[in-house]
Amino acid sequence: MQKKIRRRKRKSEPELEIVDLDKMTDPVNVEDAAGSADAKNADEEKADHAAAEEGKKESKVLIEFKKVCKKYAQGEHVFYALKDADLTINEGEMVVILGPSGAGKSTLLNLLGGMDSASSGQILFDGTDLTTFTDNMLTKYRAENVGVVFQFYNLIPTLTAYENVALMKDIKSNTTDPVEALDAVGLKDHMHQFPSQMSGGEQQRVSIARAVAKNPKLLLCDEPTGALDTGTGKEVLKLLQDMSREKKRTVVMVTHNSFFADIADTVIRVKNGGIQSIVHNDSPKDASEVNW
Ligand SMILES: Nc1ncnc2c1ncn2[C@@H]1O[C@H](COP(=O)(O)OP(=O)(O)O)[C@@H](O)[C@H]1O
Ligand SMILES: [Mg+2]
Repeated sequence: MQKKIRRRKRKSEPELEIVDLDKMTDPVNVEDAAGSADAKNADEEKADHAAAEEGKKESKVLIEFKKVCKKYAQGEHVFYALKDADLTINEGEMVVILGPSGAGKSTLLNLLGGMDSASSGQILFDGTDLTTFTDNMLTKYRAENVGVVFQFYNLIPTLTAYENVALMKDIKSNTTDPVEALDAVGLKDHMHQFPSQMSGGEQQRVSIARAVAKNPKLLLCDEPTGALDTGTGKEVLKLLQDMSREKKRTVVMVTHNSFFADIADTVIRVKNGGIQSIVHNDSPKDASEVNW
């Protein structure tokens, strides 16, 4: 019981979480604890260590922003689309970035995906700083690691659903078979249709299949339900949540819809180019339970 409480607390405190886990897995600390007067028995010790290891796995950091700024010249002034952003995203997390229009959400997402470069600060992906990358290195980073889903799907109209997804094979090795990817989003029977012959929800599912077929570590979604009705939007949300829960992919979704906060493991609120808050959710709702 005590273990459970400790682990929950760590999950709700991202910065402390990392430090605490490092301490807990430090062999010196484990030995110290075992040697103390009220030492636990060997079984308890083992269970503690296993819990610490499990916690460590849960919280492997994939992305870290350190004082990231994106600024634009505006006449004589400097405008910050993003200012001093600090954040951490763990592998397998479902993250929702919330904020009003113009807050800096897309800027944040584009920086995450290597589609834009920071004016200052560090962006660490798996420990490597993207801000030191050349254009060629960023191209490779995007091809290898990033799948993107946009509000208006961005499918190629002259290609069928199958062909749109199969394109990923030209970009990267070890892609998922297009039929399998389309099957995963429930569209195997529609794979020979062109985008114009599909509903909005179906087109968005093709674009998710396309992004996921790349087997990216990071799945970025910019207002993925923005053009869909609530019912269809929910199906898309569910698909994205499953990608994180079942396929253990890191999903980062930008939205202005605050109802989506309930389904995320982590909610990052952005306003006027600044990060307002980062909140961890111990028991996110199932996507099918969200209404808007
Ligand atoms: N290329 C650009 N040049 C100048 N200003 C930009 C550019 N891109 C974004 N901005 C500005 O940065 C702010 C944040 O934009 P954005 O990240 O797209 O907001 P959001 O996605 O939250 O609506 C906005 O005020 C926008 O006009
Ligand atoms: Mg935007």
